[in-house]
Amino acid sequence: MLIKVFGSAVFGVEATTITIEVNIDKGVGYHLVGLPDSAIKESSYRIAAALKNNGYQLPGKKITINMAPADLRKEGSAYDLTLAVGILAASGQIVSDEVDKYVIMGELSLDGSLQPIKGALPIAIKAREEGFKGFFLPKQNVKEAAIVDGLDVYGIENVLEVIDFLEGRGDLKPTVFDTREEFYKTLDFPEFDFSDVKGQESIKRCMEIAAAGGHNIILIGPPGAGKTMLAKRLPSILPPMTLKEALETTKIHSVAGKVKEGGLMNQRPFRSPHHTISNVALVGGGSYPQPGEISMAHNGVLFLDELPEFKREVLEVMRQPLEDREVTISRAKFTITYPSSFMLVASMNPSPGGYFNDPDAPVSSSPHEMQRYLSKISGPLLDRIDIHIEVTPVPFEKLSDKQKAESSIEIRQRVTKARELQTMRFAHLENVHYNAQMNTKQIREYCELDETSLQLLKTAMERLNLSARAYDRILKVSRTIADLEASENVQQHHIAEAIQYRSLDRDGWLG
Ligand SMILES: Nc1ncnc2c1ncn2[C@@H]1O[C@H](COP(=O)(O)OP(=O)(O)O)[C@@H](O)[C@H]1O
Ligand SMILES: [Mg+2]
Repeated sequence: MLIKVFGSAVFGVEATTITIEVNIDKGVGYHLVGLPDSAIKESSYRIAAALKNNGYQLPGKKITINMAPADLRKEGSAYDLTLAVGILAASGQIVSDEVDKYVIMGELSLDGSLQPIKGALPIAIKAREEGFKGFFLPKQNVKEAAIVDGLDVYGIENVLEVIDFLEGRGDLKPTVFDTREEFYKTLDFPEFDFSDVKGQESIKRCMEIAAAGGHNIILIGPPGAGKTMLAKRLPSILPPMTLKEALETTKIHSVAGKVKEGGLMNQRPFRSPHHTISNVALVGGGSYPQPGEISMAHNGVLFLDELPEFKREVLEVMRQPLEDREVTISRAKFTITYPSSFMLVASMNPSPGGYFNDPDAPVSSSPHEMQRYLSKISGPLLDRIDIHIEVTPVPFEKLSDKQKAESSIEIRQRVTKARELQTMRFAHLENVHYNAQMNTKQIREYCELDETSLQLLKTAMERLNLSARAYDRILKVSRTIADLEASENVQQHHIAEAIQYRSLDRDGWLG
């Protein structure tokens, strides 16, 4: 008998329905056609054991399976359950006229239990779009799929549950999840809050500006100054995620098989890869392409702790995606794109030994060591970092201060207001949404200075020996400072503040 069942393949962050035809005939053999990879070809062993251990069997006949569309590569073991149901139906072990009404996915263990799959969210979105009645998938992934309204999703632990359901037995119910309610419930409870940080008012101010204009930022300071602590709190002062952003980010995490318990993410991601990370793990790719850290950080923050420790080549591959806000991975037969719009926060010690210009430092570095260390971060990547700030440890009295500092939600309100002004300003531009994204022409248009401000900037550039690249960055950042004050024009005191945030451009650093 010939039976049709449906699975799904994920490319980038989108799914494509895969039609699987199973035909059982006289003879022997297990033939799979339609570009399956080796994991799918090995499915017969897992399916045979899983069925046998649950009172069913792989028929001793000629089983032919065709996976369509034929030109799409099908990968991984998530088709085990689809194939198992198809085989059972084609051999009359499942009697049901509903098998082709569902998308069915899951990897089988030999005892018939299910292992999680990747991409449950995009698969569910596609299944709804194409009018399927429901989606069967491993229980571990059900919350991810349940984000989608208008599709019955069934999380199951064992192959028997889907067999029973299709034959009208058992009491399996779809998982219902009120996406909106869950989403808004905890939106105002960030995991890490700025109120935990004692003192450091000027650094917090700086991070507020970075958040308000979407400016990439680098924190420079000795070990223990609180750089990591501060960076971790940046997502909490960015404007709250919209439902649309949350879906985009959750989709990427779903494709990577890394959605957390709660399903839909409502906090901006904070990713902090170790400096030994490989190119592929950072930007994505691999023989079965997977999103990298820069995409896992989409709509959130990517924190590169100890920036000069990263391999230069790794920083190099990140440049294009940082600019384009997406990363494209090309293979002979296909090209996929992962979104990668994130804010970059970097940290560094002022020298390889951790200290700079500090006579009491436990370790000191030779000028040669210093230069080698700093040269790793100079150039194109540093060019994309608008704000440099030095972080010094807070004194002990401040640390033991009982007074509660301002909360992230309060800071976030100011950031959000400043962002709203920018959204209006750039409404007519397709690729610019906040100040950090302005190109040189737009900077000239939106950051016009009066004569005194211009003079101030000129003098500062000469006196502090600021590099030419600092010029545009200062203008952009001063635009954001003005926006935080809801000031139409960039004024002298905005410029004066922005000038302070260029530590690495001064003499003695990168020159
Ligand atoms: N301003 C601060 N307020 C409260 N705790 C702080 C502050 N600065 C540092 N700490 C404490 O010191 C620890 C080390 O800070 P950390 O962020 O790891 O420093 P760094 O990344 O600069 O080496 C933090 O986990 C925190 O407990
Ligand atoms: Mg640290």
